Amino acid sequence: SADAGLNLTDIQGDILIGMKKNKELFFFFNIVNSTLFRTQLGSGILPLITPTSQLLAVDTQPTTAVNIAFSQRGLDTLGITDDLGDTSFSNGQLDNVASILGDETSNWESAFAGTSIHGVFLLASDTLDNVNATLLQVQNILEGSITEVYSLQGEARPGDQQGHEHFGFMDGISNPAVTGFALSPLPGQQVLDPGLFLLGETGDTVTRPAWAKDGSFLAFRQLQQRVPEFNKFLVDNALSNPNLTADQNAELLGARMMGRWKSGAPVDLAPTVDDPVLAADPQRNNNFNYSHPGFDITTDQTHCPFSAHLRKTNPRAGLTPENTANHIIRAGIPYGPEVTDAESASNTSSTDPSLERGLAFVAYQSDISNGFAFLQQIWANNAKFPGGKASEPGVDPIIGTDGSGIADVARTPSGLDPDDPTRIITIEQDFVVSRGGEYFFSPSLSAIQNTFAL
Ligand code: HEM
Repeated sequence: SADAGLNLTDIQGDILIGMKKNKELFFFFNIVNSTLFRTQLGSGILPLITPTSQLLAVDTQPTTAVNIAFSQRGLDTLGITDDLGDTSFSNGQLDNVASILGDETSNWESAFAGTSIHGVFLLASDTLDNVNATLLQVQNILEGSITEVYSLQGEARPGDQQGHEHFGFMDGISNPAVTGFALSPLPGQQVLDPGLFLLGETGDTVTRPAWAKDGSFLAFRQLQQRVPEFNKFLVDNALSNPNLTADQNAELLGARMMGRWKSGAPVDLAPTVDDPVLAADPQRNNNFNYSHPGFDITTDQTHCPFSAHLRKTNPRAGLTPENTANHIIRAGIPYGPEVTDAESASNTSSTDPSLERGLAFVAYQSDISNGFAFLQQIWANNAKFPGGKASEPGVDPIIGTDGSGIADVARTPSGLDPDDPTRIITIEQDFVVSRGGEYFFSPSLSAIQNTFAL
């Protein structure tokens, strides 16, 4: 069975496999009556929480999957004083902003910059009607004990863009496999200790309260994407492969910035032309590690730039020995509407808040400063990573910031032009703007029952 070693009836469903629905609401709440909340949690909410086991088989999947997670302020409010052993979590994401994440705080959604978010419900289903019905049910159960602080409606993109994030790239291809869970990992998929993602499991070296076992830290980020600006940048800076059309040269630049084509085909295996058949083949689409016979992995960028988003956030064989400490499981979903004609025509994102679009980013890990925060600060925002290169790789051209906390400081990745890897293609503006977020703890169902509920 697939559950060797892990208690899948106790681990919330989003952590290891994601709820994988077309609609997912993130409902951020404040607890106004702790005792009442704890009573309602056990009697009313716990039966709604979806464990991993329930998501594994189609016939047991609920119409709307429900997960819940708490911020440190939420734990404080509930009177849960045990130290979970993660200072990023305890301090909250706002504390990480300037020093670690490089966000410009003025871009933060005020709810995330405030102090009232105690927890979040993740409600996932095929339709908005289902999500809203379950939200109503949750709100009725928690009548008098919570208030809404903020919510963000995640939605898969329509039609053939389903599964693609707003820049157009297929997402959700590469997540690590977990020992004891995925018994037949896909080719190229790294198999890691469960303790990297679940507290108290093999590989988690931090001392935790016993009840925290099989919980996970959820790093949430609302990442706005300036899609028209990104598209214009690709056209303006299209590469110059003589065998490709101008459009294809623009696509090639985008693929090299990401590390995959929009189809999902990795540029490491398909360096000059997209390969949709490769992209659609799970036996091959993640089976690469940046090394190629006859090429020196320490210098070769003809296949994939060192600065590519994929390579920055998971260097694979580019680090020796291969990194086993800094990994996350991603479970995000796009939010916001498609680009409008007016935005396309003006190459500019609308300032109308209802037209904001981006990624409701979710990362699970057992240690935030080794997981999401590490990837963002030590790899993506660090122009020198990976080190020892002839020309500095530059920051991640998708999510990197210069770390100053000031938006739109020009970024200067090298390696994007395969014909001249030392050439710097200057990126004047940020295509991903952090609107903030929070760190949460997603407890096991038994912890909800025995520690959170009254
Ligand atoms: C992979 C887009 C933010 C970490 C990917 C992929 C895409 C993508 C298209 C390839 C699909 C796949 O391999 O599964 C984006 C966009 C973002 C964003 C548009 C912002 C709006 C982030 C952030 C982090 C991150 C903030 C972490 C700090 C990763 C990791 C991978 C990945 C670890 C897998 C790399 C691999 O295993 O090869 N991203 N991403 N991403 N992203 Fe992001």
